[in-house]
Amino acid sequence: MAETARHVARVPDDRPIRVAIVGLGRIYDLNKLAYVDNDDVDVVALVDSSAARRDQRQTDWPGARTFSSVDELVKSGVVIDAVEVLLPIVAHEVGVLKCLGAGWHVNLQKPIANDLAGAERIREAADSADRCVRVMENYLFYPPLQRLKEIVDSRQLGEISTYHMKMVASGLGGWEVPGDTYERQFEQMRRGRGALFFDDGWHKLSTALWLFGPVREVRAWIGTTEVFPGIDIDAPTTVAWEHVSGVRGVWDITLAVDMFLRSDYYTNDERWEVTGRRGFARVNRCTGRGLQQPSLEVYLDGEMRSFHALDDDWASSFLRSGRHWLGWLRAPEGPLNWGVEEAIDVLRFALGAYESSSRGGVGVDPRRSDVGSRGP
Ligand SMILES: NC(=O)c1ccc[n+]([C@@H]2O[C@H](COP(=O)([O-])OP(=O)(O)OC[C@H]3O[C@@H](n4cnc5c(N)ncnc54)[C@H](O)[C@@H]3O)[C@@H](O)[C@H]2O)c1
Repeated sequence: MAETARHVARVPDDRPIRVAIVGLGRIYDLNKLAYVDNDDVDVVALVDSSAARRDQRQTDWPGARTFSSVDELVKSGVVIDAVEVLLPIVAHEVGVLKCLGAGWHVNLQKPIANDLAGAERIREAADSADRCVRVMENYLFYPPLQRLKEIVDSRQLGEISTYHMKMVASGLGGWEVPGDTYERQFEQMRRGRGALFFDDGWHKLSTALWLFGPVREVRAWIGTTEVFPGIDIDAPTTVAWEHVSGVRGVWDITLAVDMFLRSDYYTNDERWEVTGRRGFARVNRCTGRGLQQPSLEVYLDGEMRSFHALDDDWASSFLRSGRHWLGWLRAPEGPLNWGVEEAIDVLRFALGAYESSSRGGVGVDPRRSDVGSRGP
């Protein structure tokens, strides 16, 4: 997709980039990697409504000032170039608008917002503040997926016909997810935005747009499974779509509550497979480390080529994504991966799927101006 980076951000080279990190929860542990041991940045402020989180994270940045809200940060007069916004999705819009109002560039965690109206308000605020909002998509920086894209673009697989994704969320293994993080995810689910399809699934929809361009029709069957009384997880889910290019995509989400999966992070067993007229290529994992297979395999002319030496630690995608952003602030050239426009395309794709599911699986064009308005 052609990406438009409309807001030119150029932080002068003669000093470190002054950064505030807003939201110090679970994903902070990976987002911080681009900043750690980086002389080119100075983390000057930390913001979280939880005093315990502020105390915990202050040990990483003893010189940073801490605040309990973005309002306090704005009032403080601390001089800042850019903000890393790692707030819960429902707090993205308010947080981003305040940062833009203070004149700061923003690197925002995905999903941009729960609905199109909120995403459009972020776009308008960035326009009027003439500041850059990036909606980070770390999967586009995961080396096996980057290599998959190179293989697709090189046309060695021949004309591409299908894109298959599989995602199994397992209940055992992985890192600890704090109770309050879960509680915020459950609130999202009660708003009709599931943890698997919308929150984590955002990345999978992104890879489809990144690899194969705009989508003209999506059909979905989004299910639910009650895992605790009153807590419904959005699986089993099946989504199918067609790109404008003619490539078809299929993605299924499964919940395996009692399955153990080795992982340093979330227990998510993921696969990506692209099939062309001459062969196929597949990425065997990302977040989890369940399968001890090479992270990328390519089948062509009766032979399988296996990639054993790619950096396939999911954390690397955060480090690389963050470093890309910091580099972009110095020299704003090339794609942001993603900008607000691309994030809105991902949101449209998700809203189209929700609408399709609520209407019995009918085909929905995500480019329709009111996509999502006929769904939940
Ligand atoms: N890129 C990825 O792979 C990935 C993975 C996980 C989460 N995420 C995204 O990262 C974001 C944060 O997720 P998380 O898992 O770290 O959530 P979390 O709930 O663990 O952390 C959010 C933090 O924000 C604080 N907070 C909440 N409201 C606040 C407010 N109004 N002002 C100041 N602080 C506030 C909370 O105290 C908490 O410490 C979400 O958008 C989520 O979708 C992305």
